[in-house]
Amino acid sequence: MTRTRSARSGAPLGWEHLPAPDLRGRTVVMTGASDGLGREAALQLALWGADLVLAVRSRDKGEIVRSRVTAETGRPGAVRLVDLDLDDLSSVRAAAEAIGRETAGTGIDLLIHVAGLVTRRREETADGFERMLGVNALAPLLLTDLLLPSVRDRVVVVASHAHTFGRVDRADPHFRRGGWSLRAAYGRSKLVTMLWGLDLAEQLTATGSPVDLQLVHPGWVLTNLQNATGSDHLDALVTAASRPLAMTAQEGAASVLLAATQPLPSGSYLGPDGPGALHGRPTFLRRSPTALDRGLAREVAAWARAEVDGAGG
Ligand SMILES: NC(=O)c1ccc[n+]([C@@H]2O[C@H](COP(=O)([O-])OP(=O)(O)OC[C@H]3O[C@@H](n4cnc5c(N)ncnc54)[C@H](OP(=O)(O)O)[C@@H]3O)[C@@H](O)[C@H]2O)c1
Repeated sequence: MTRTRSARSGAPLGWEHLPAPDLRGRTVVMTGASDGLGREAALQLALWGADLVLAVRSRDKGEIVRSRVTAETGRPGAVRLVDLDLDDLSSVRAAAEAIGRETAGTGIDLLIHVAGLVTRRREETADGFERMLGVNALAPLLLTDLLLPSVRDRVVVVASHAHTFGRVDRADPHFRRGGWSLRAAYGRSKLVTMLWGLDLAEQLTATGSPVDLQLVHPGWVLTNLQNATGSDHLDALVTAASRPLAMTAQEGAASVLLAATQPLPSGSYLGPDGPGALHGRPTFLRRSPTALDRGLAREVAAWARAEVDGAGG
C-alpha cells in the first residue's frame, strides 16, 4: 500500500492510517491551483496519478504549476490549463465550455473549488456583485451548475470557518447600503458557500445522484490570503508573526485531499481538529447552526442562482 504522505517533502497529511488513493485515469478539475493550498493539493493529486484540468486566471502561474507537476510526476500531460476569472461570469461560462471540450472524452471525476480571495475594501465584480461574495460563492456555484452533468463522483468546495461570523442579509446582500467590513463580507461569502453547498448535497442525495459534495475548512494557512491589512509592511509583520502558529500550504491541503479522495457522507464538513479549527489533523467539523438551516440553504441557493442568471445567464 502506498503511504498517504507527500512524496515531495514527507509532510504528514494527518490521515496516514487510510489507504493512499489511486487516481490513475481519473480526471480532476480544480480552481485555485495556481497558488496557496490549492497548488499543494494539485501537486499531491497528480502524484497520486490524477490528470488535472486547472482553471486559472494567470496562465503564467498555471504554467509554473504545470512545470512543477511534470517535474515531480514525470508525466508531461498531467496538467491542462483553462482560463478562468471568477470576477466575471462571462469568463466562468467560457471556462465551463473550455473544460467541457478538455474533458469530452473522459468526463470529470472530481470538481474541486479552492479559489477564493479577500479584499481590503469593498469592490465589485464585473457583474456588480460585492467581490468576495461574487468570487468566493456565486461564481463557483455557477461553475458547478454548468459542469455538474459531466461530474461522475464528487464536488469539493473549500469554504471556511469564517462562515460562523457571516450573516445573510436578504435586503442588502452586496453591502450596497453600507456595513461592509472585511470580516462581515468574507464571512458572508463563506456562509453563502456553506449554504448552497448543503442544499446541493441534499439535492444530489434526494435525486439518487452518484455524485456527492463535500465542504472544507482548510484551517489557518499561511498563504497570500493573509495579505489583507492594506499595508505591505503590516502584511509582512503579520506573516512573520503567524509563521510559528499557522499551517503551511502543504498542511492546509490535507483536508482538501481527504475530502477529495476518501469515502464520506455527502455534505460533510471537514477541517483541522485543533482549537478553533485553526490547525491540526483533518476531521469532521461542526458548522454553525445557520449553516445547517436547510430552509435557509434552499432559499439562499435559489437566490444565488437568480443572481447569476440575472447577470447574463
Ligand atoms: N489561508 C487560510 O487561512 C484559509 C482559511 C480558510 C479558508 N481558506 C480558503 O482557502 C482557499 C484557498 O486560499 P489560499 O489560502 O490558498 O489563498 P491564495 O494563496 O491567495 O490562493 C487563492 C487562489 O484562488 C485564485 N483566485 C483568486 N481570485 C480568483 C479569481 N477571480 N478567478 C480565478 N481564480 C482566483 C488565486 O489565483 P492567483 O494565483 O491568480 O492569485 C489562487 O490560485 C480560498 O477559498 C480561501 O478562502 C483559506
